[in-house]
Amino acid sequence: MYPLFNVELFKGEGVFVIDKNGQRYLDLYGGHAVISIGHSHPHYVAAISSQIERIGFYSNSILNPLQKELAKKLGEASGFIDYSLFLCNSGAEANENALKLASFKTGKSKVIAFKKAFHGRTSGAVGVTDNSKIIAPINEKKDVVFLELNDIQSVEAELQKGDVAAVLIEGIQGIGGIRIPSAEFMKGLRDLCSRYQAIFIVDEIQSGYGRSGRFFAFQHADVIPDLITVAKGMGNGFPMGGVLISPDFEAKNGMLGTTFGGNYLACAAGIAVLDVIKSQKLVANAEEIGNFLMSELSKIPEIKEVRGMGLMIGVEFEDDVAELRKKLLYDKKIFTGVSGSHIIRLLPPLNLRKENVVHFIEKFKESIAELA
Ligand SMILES: Cc1ncc(COP(=O)(O)O)c(C=O)c1O
Repeated sequence: MYPLFNVELFKGEGVFVIDKNGQRYLDLYGGHAVISIGHSHPHYVAAISSQIERIGFYSNSILNPLQKELAKKLGEASGFIDYSLFLCNSGAEANENALKLASFKTGKSKVIAFKKAFHGRTSGAVGVTDNSKIIAPINEKKDVVFLELNDIQSVEAELQKGDVAAVLIEGIQGIGGIRIPSAEFMKGLRDLCSRYQAIFIVDEIQSGYGRSGRFFAFQHADVIPDLITVAKGMGNGFPMGGVLISPDFEAKNGMLGTTFGGNYLACAAGIAVLDVIKSQKLVANAEEIGNFLMSELSKIPEIKEVRGMGLMIGVEFEDDVAELRKKLLYDKKIFTGVSGSHIIRLLPPLNLRKENVVHFIEKFKESIAELA
């Protein structure tokens, strides 16, 4: 499924990963935006270990107080205290459940999504993903229209047809190349969804959990979605996802369901993540260190464009970045990601420090010079 790098990891420690030979690497990729609080954080390790010693799993037909605690803490951390939380196991599943809710509520099925969007790899989630390299099953795209990001007129024209259940947008497009919807566009989407009774869904699976320097990236635009999907950073590596659901949705018995979603271990992991985000002020750190990193990057003349928010950063070059990424990994011992062929994508753990940035910038400049 993926091109493999020849590194075998043995352990993780904060913003570093260590291979089987004891070699340390600075992790500016976070396993694809998944590592939020840092690898093997002691509070997180203790929470999961002590939970598995008691009970790891039982079915959702039994009251599980950890689900309530997680929902409460997520509500407090994000500011969405009155939203309900549906727990599942991945990002794609969160988006599918959000789309299902939108279609139940509106009785409609069409979805407006955006060009270059990525929402997951299950059939339903691929259906709302605009990426020619991802193979969609036949017919999965029939109820989806892909519009240009930041083109509010085309959204209104589509909504006027009266058959749209939901508008689905990433808080910041990740795989699509770190493209940020404008605040004006997000506000426009909110207003139009209210006017035409469509559900406004924001996918914060990659951009959420503090990564952008706000708990959710859409909070930079000051809008209130009806549904918010989360995963990745939520479990810091423990597979889990969720949908935050506005109080306008009435929960009905049997409407959504899951076997593994919200299990004790996932909840213990999710609660520990929120505890550490709060106690270590990681959202503010993402903003501060992200701004420093972006300002240092923008001084490098070989870079075409630096864009992003907080610790979700795209560094675009005129040329293909495959060799640069390999050099950073094998010679400089730094993990980075990519978006397409020309953008280096940085999604480090949110506890990244200034000294890590200084080290990276030095190695990044060296790598660019050595490849010139
Ligand atoms: C914005 C966004 N949505 C959804 C997904 C899918 O998440 P998962 O792989 O957990 O299903 C991803 C994964 O990269 C993503 O970046």
